[in-house]
Amino acid sequence: MRASAVAQPNIALIKYWGKRDIVSNIPAVGSLSITLASLETRMTVEFEKGIESDSLSVNHEPAERLLPRVSRCLDDLLGPGRAPAVIESSCNFPIAAGLASSASSFAALVVAASQAAGLQADTLSLARSAGRASGSAARSLYGGFVELQASESEILVESILDADAWPMEVVVAINAKGEKPVSSGDAMNLSAKTSPFYSSWVEHQDQDLRVARAAVADRDFMTLAAISEHNCLKMHSLMWTSRPSVVYWNKATLACMETIRRLQNDGVPVFFTIDAGPQVKAVCLPAAAKQVRDALRETDGVLDTLQSSLGGGAHALDKP
Ligand code: PMV
Repeated sequence: MRASAVAQPNIALIKYWGKRDIVSNIPAVGSLSITLASLETRMTVEFEKGIESDSLSVNHEPAERLLPRVSRCLDDLLGPGRAPAVIESSCNFPIAAGLASSASSFAALVVAASQAAGLQADTLSLARSAGRASGSAARSLYGGFVELQASESEILVESILDADAWPMEVVVAINAKGEKPVSSGDAMNLSAKTSPFYSSWVEHQDQDLRVARAAVADRDFMTLAAISEHNCLKMHSLMWTSRPSVVYWNKATLACMETIRRLQNDGVPVFFTIDAGPQVKAVCLPAAAKQVRDALRETDGVLDTLQSSLGGGAHALDKP
């Protein structure tokens, strides 16, 4: 009744922003991501009949505020009649700061819980459960380049290219360490309701996905770079034009974008993407990683950098 799992965050190149159905968390747009290798969440779940309710610790501290969402995810996976669980989570990177910690957390949770409960579930069913808790978590069940489709009624997700088929490095510039002021879920619902550009975003997403999918198939870095930056900036334009507006960037975010533009002008194969936080993720070909990391380290306001190659999806660990 006890099992552990590990999962990595994923970074969307073509972004998920907006829900078709808020209750079942069906995305309004498809998205395409890369799963990282060295940033990770480890989760241990133990079901115990003798205790009254679920408990959750994150990095050895009680995490009451996150518990209801975690409990709902376990109910979704196993049914509300399940035994209460003791859940221990640890994360080797900042939490709730726009680094997709919810993606790796819910992906690790469904794998560990299904294993602990002896549930025979395939990866897509686990991805659907994780995705109902956090849309982007569905993608962390898979490795490499992953596509989450905008379907009418069900979460559909698959790996479109293995991690080792097109090696890349991601350098993350940590530009603030606190938790984000508005959750991505609340912010995307606000954008859908109030941004005048939301319908255009939804309408053009398939076009962006087609370009990105073809660039991945052709290993065409420049095309993937251009469409990823464009799609990221469109998503942030939705946030900025929501009412009230949501701005996750800080000064260092802009300084990192300038650094990356300078590297690009020098012919370095790198592009940026930014999620619901001020951190900048620089995606580059492996030979450029050192130069990119050095340049970001020297950029004003950057507190720290992390680096990762691409990795496989969530998996159970032999030793709980
Ligand atoms: O899965 P959520 O609800 O945390 O939303 C993720 C939103 C972005 O990270 C900004 C974009 C994405 O596709 O991951």
